[in-house]
Amino acid sequence: MPNKNEQTHILITGASRGLGAALALAYAKHYSEQANETLHLSLLATTTDNLNATKQQCTPYCDQIDCYGVDLNDPSASIAPIQAIAEQPVDIAILNAGVTNDSKNNQETWQQQHAIINTNLLAAMACTHALIPSMQARQSGRIVLVSSIAAFKGLGLTPSYCASKAGIKAYADSIRGGLADQGVTVHCVMPGFIATDMTAAYSGATPFMISSERAAMIVIKGLQKNRLIIIFPRLISWGMRLLNILPVRWSDAILKYAGYGSPTQ
Ligand SMILES: NC(=O)c1ccc[n+]([C@@H]2O[C@H](COP(=O)([O-])OP(=O)(O)OC[C@H]3O[C@@H](n4cnc5c(N)ncnc54)[C@H](OP(=O)(O)O)[C@@H]3O)[C@@H](O)[C@H]2O)c1
Repeated sequence: MPNKNEQTHILITGASRGLGAALALAYAKHYSEQANETLHLSLLATTTDNLNATKQQCTPYCDQIDCYGVDLNDPSASIAPIQAIAEQPVDIAILNAGVTNDSKNNQETWQQQHAIINTNLLAAMACTHALIPSMQARQSGRIVLVSSIAAFKGLGLTPSYCASKAGIKAYADSIRGGLADQGVTVHCVMPGFIATDMTAAYSGATPFMISSERAAMIVIKGLQKNRLIIIFPRLISWGMRLLNILPVRWSDAILKYAGYGSPTQ
């Protein structure tokens, strides 16, 4: 690789597959084309075999890739590894790891609900908490919290998932102002359906679904333009916003008619 002067450090959770893996590869390719900058990727997930597969894909384009097997279902346990990673200043942290219930199997168990809130909401908050001090000290850094258009209106097939994603959006909105004054930018990504393992387990319709590669490019371009809320695809995102402002009996009826009602309805 040619001599480059600066290095950008990007941390991605949930990088073993799906959107996280696509983001890692897209960023690796992007930085390989930059004249002056190299990329350091720190990739997290529970499945180290799959993380290593992402690493292999990125290796031709990227100088330094570190993989960490961390189970975010135990949010407090994620703080120490994230703090250790942040000893090499993190420029962009994409807190993307997520789980949902398998809506094909009817209702959520309490254990599933716990795991969804732990992984999607509490772990993202724990990682943010661990990253903030070093970013504040440097007066720079971006925290990218991955929510969903499901944050606008709960869907009966995936109640805890929707609750976790609404929580992420509210958390991003809440911390953005204070951190902006300290040089730290908080972004919230709100995708519609992306073709990944997550949607493969979803029993509802998946209109306007896009590939993980396309979703990754939309996220990267949105961050380059410094968009604070990156929401896509446009049509379904407006549909969800509209459902959010309609009288609740109407929006519930529309969702039930469209097949997104709770299995017990
Ligand atoms: N797919 C969609 O339609 C869609 C739409 C809106 C928002 N999103 C959001 O986008 C993000 C990525 O979703 P995706 O579709 O790419 O999902 P995915 O293909 O199922 O991948 C999920 C990633 O999260 C990691 N993960 C899951 N549980 C974890 C845990 N306990 N500890 C550490 N890592 C864990 C997985 O790795 P391991 O299993 O190897 O640990 C995997 O890398 C999620 O936050 C999701 O909610 C997705």
